[in-house]
Amino acid sequence: MSTRTLLITGAGSGIGAGIADCLAAEGHHLICTDLDREAAESVAAAIRARGGSAEAHALDVGSDESVAAVLAAVSRPIEVLVNNAGLQHVARLEDFPMAKWNLLVQVMLVGVARLTQAVLPGMRERGFGRIVNIGSIHSLVASKYKSAYVSAKHGLLGFSKVIALETADADITINTVCPTYVKTPLVEKQIADQAAQHGIPETEVVREIMLKPMPKGVFISFEELAGITAFLIGPAARNITGQTITVDGGWTVQ
Ligand SMILES: NC(=O)c1ccc[n+]([C@@H]2O[C@H](COP(=O)([O-])OP(=O)(O)OC[C@H]3O[C@@H](n4cnc5c(N)ncnc54)[C@H](O)[C@@H]3O)[C@@H](O)[C@H]2O)c1
Repeated sequence: MSTRTLLITGAGSGIGAGIADCLAAEGHHLICTDLDREAAESVAAAIRARGGSAEAHALDVGSDESVAAVLAAVSRPIEVLVNNAGLQHVARLEDFPMAKWNLLVQVMLVGVARLTQAVLPGMRERGFGRIVNIGSIHSLVASKYKSAYVSAKHGLLGFSKVIALETADADITINTVCPTYVKTPLVEKQIADQAAQHGIPETEVVREIMLKPMPKGVFISFEELAGITAFLIGPAARNITGQTITVDGGWTVQ
């Protein structure tokens, strides 16, 4: 398989960092970006220390200026965009600060449109592009206290379908990978928040809320998500576009 240049948003932590690590090991060049510049730099430095190829840039997906600055600064043309940056806030709607609600949608939906809009002209010019969105089981089903997150992640599927149609005339695809829970800082924080909201111990949140609805009952690994991303950017997936790849251990077939 050809090696590619991938830009990953939110690559300073969790899933973004995990996908960057795994795909760098396969020989791809990684442009690690994050709101947190130091975090992105430490992921890129670790990749280089293992003999991989990576660079880091501070990038706020909520800012036109930030996106323009990164596009002007990257060392190579972007062939693959992984829209991964995200955050969670758990509260019933009546208690949900509207500024926070807006931020979640700005980062996980408007930010995805902003990055995609910014990279598409170059992809069209070069005749190749792959866009992989990190959606969620919450792109497909709902959970209490996550109205902003579920709205943004559901919206991502609609966005992806429209862009699949708009880019069908070129060798460009866009797909959304939807995992259940992955053990990252985003989930660790949520365990405590959900325990408080539901009035139950943290161990019960993991067992009853996170893992019980999933017949396979395990957390999803970074390697699985990196492997699916590698498949989606490879030649076998050139006609897979606008699709939702659900990684839910059987959650939604019940
Ligand atoms: N962890 C899970 O169980 C899980 C499950 C399904 C989907 N997801 C999705 O995976 C993605 C990554 O989540 P994670 O669990 O690795 O979280 P994480 O908190 O470990 O990492 C998220 C990263 O996004 C960055 N970020 C936040 N706002 C940003 C912005 N405005 N611009 C650029 N970067 C920004 C953060 O700095 C952080 O480094 C998110 O889109 C999340 O919704 C996570």
